[in-house]
Amino acid sequence: MALSAEAGWNQTDEDWAVFFAHGKVYGITDAAGAPQATGAVLPYAGGFAWIGMVLVTVACRRKGLGTRILEACLADLDDRGLVPFLDATPAGAEIYRPLGFEDTLGLTRWRGSGGATGGGLPNGMRAMTEDDLAAAVALDAVAFGTERRFLLDNLFRRAGDAALLRADGTGFALARSGRTATQIGPIVAGSEESAAALLETALGRVAGAVIVDLADRWTGLAGLLEARGFARERPFLRMVRGRAAPFGDPDHLFVAAGPEFG
Ligand SMILES: CC(C)(COP(=O)(O)OP(=O)(O)OC[C@H]1O[C@@H](n2cnc3c(N)ncnc32)[C@H](O)[C@@H]1OP(=O)(O)O)[C@@H](O)C(=O)NCCC(=O)NCCS
Repeated sequence: MALSAEAGWNQTDEDWAVFFAHGKVYGITDAAGAPQATGAVLPYAGGFAWIGMVLVTVACRRKGLGTRILEACLADLDDRGLVPFLDATPAGAEIYRPLGFEDTLGLTRWRGSGGATGGGLPNGMRAMTEDDLAAAVALDAVAFGTERRFLLDNLFRRAGDAALLRADGTGFALARSGRTATQIGPIVAGSEESAAALLETALGRVAGAVIVDLADRWTGLAGLLEARGFARERPFLRMVRGRAAPFGDPDHLFVAAGPEFG
């Protein structure tokens, strides 16, 4: 948490705990045991793993620690035969490219405020229940490229009123509280119009600062966010190493869960 907070990131203890429970966290400490660098691997189904939480404390940057951490993560995944994916910040992309990562999808983080307008749900939308999780996991698997039930289960339990399902079963939205903002995502849907309805409804059900990691191709959704006073905060680049074939279905992936989870 010291490293992610120093970098201004949004993760909470609960986010870090996902990596300890379901993946592995690598770290470098100083002689007194204080953390200087971290990186985490999160194996998902289907032969690949997400890399996240790559952080080097400000005073120790440009000394090769980030590269060393990445090399440890990659050696682990190579041993297990898992293809590594990640969402890179512009600084992160600088260390990933020399290690063989290639660009796939562009995403932008938008920051604004929730409306917390409350009230009933619009037509065609209902609150997600535990019984809907399997359907959401299946939709997510198509959009993202592999099944990640443990993650959706975790996000569902943290989503409160912003866990939403299209009544026709074609899309869903989740959200979670973070250190600086509520993160809305993932949003998976059958069309941009449907994703817009999910996003609007989710925004009406959360209060305070909100962040949304939107795939760049969805200019209609970007316009919706702009009209609500959201501003672009930073780009992310989804990168993969050692896989030429596309992964997931970008036609159904609108808003990502966040760069730590994909
Ligand atoms: C990105 C980050 C992890 C890099 O860690 P690091 O230990 O400084 O990286 P390294 O020392 O291994 O860098 C290796 C090479 O990558 C390139 N590089 C690293 N950071 C760079 C930057 N900010 N801008 C341009 N090039 C950079 C350089 O070529 C560098 O070699 P050099 O120092 O000999 O020129 C660190 O800057 C950081 O924690 N940033 C904030 C959080 C973040 O963005 N994490 C990445 C998430 S995807």
